[in-house]
Amino acid sequence: MTEFLLEFWRALYFLISPYAANAIPPLVKGKTPIDAGKNFLDGKRILGNGKTWEGFVAGTLFGTFCGSVAWLFYTHLNTIAKEYGFTLPYISPFNAFLLSIGALFGDMLGSFIKRRLSMERGSPAPLLDQLDFIFGAFAVGMFITDVNLFTFLWCVIITPIVHILANLLAYVCRIKEVPW
Ligand code: CTP
Ligand code: MG
Repeated sequence: MTEFLLEFWRALYFLISPYAANAIPPLVKGKTPIDAGKNFLDGKRILGNGKTWEGFVAGTLFGTFCGSVAWLFYTHLNTIAKEYGFTLPYISPFNAFLLSIGALFGDMLGSFIKRRLSMERGSPAPLLDQLDFIFGAFAVGMFITDVNLFTFLWCVIITPIVHILANLLAYVCRIKEVPW
């Protein structure tokens, strides 16, 4: 049980790059669709206008940046972790770059799936919308750093809660018109 609870902190550390990468594209609101406006075999858009190069590049840069800042504090944070009997997943700046790309590919896969299900760009797909980038980050993370099923479970638990809190905060700060 303690092992699972301690895993929370490892998940939080792992999430820095993926969160940073995923948070930036909606602020950038790019204009150049990654699918170049093309349709898939089913005649529907491959990804749609919501996935742009500007968002992808800015997300990758910011995810790499935040992951690199976290990496600067790794030794310090890990010393604290060791006092509690666990080790943080080591993520170099290059691996933060790979995790960011993984997260953004996960986000694109989410849109690809939505388009195949004939869902318009921006239509809500609960859980898929919130978790797609987590799947992408994990698909990469499991090969480049020390994460496990518990880390993944924590990420899946934390992320929708963070989403709700972030939207509430944006509403309170009048950045968003509705609290969801
Ligand atoms: N965005 C972007 N480039 C990306 C990802 C996101 O420019 N690679 C921007 C788009 O302006 C997008 C917004 O961030 O509308 C919100 O992202 P998301 O919710 O993932 O896209 P949706 O518009 O909801 O489209 P979809 O239905 O495909 O998820
Ligand atoms: Mg969306």
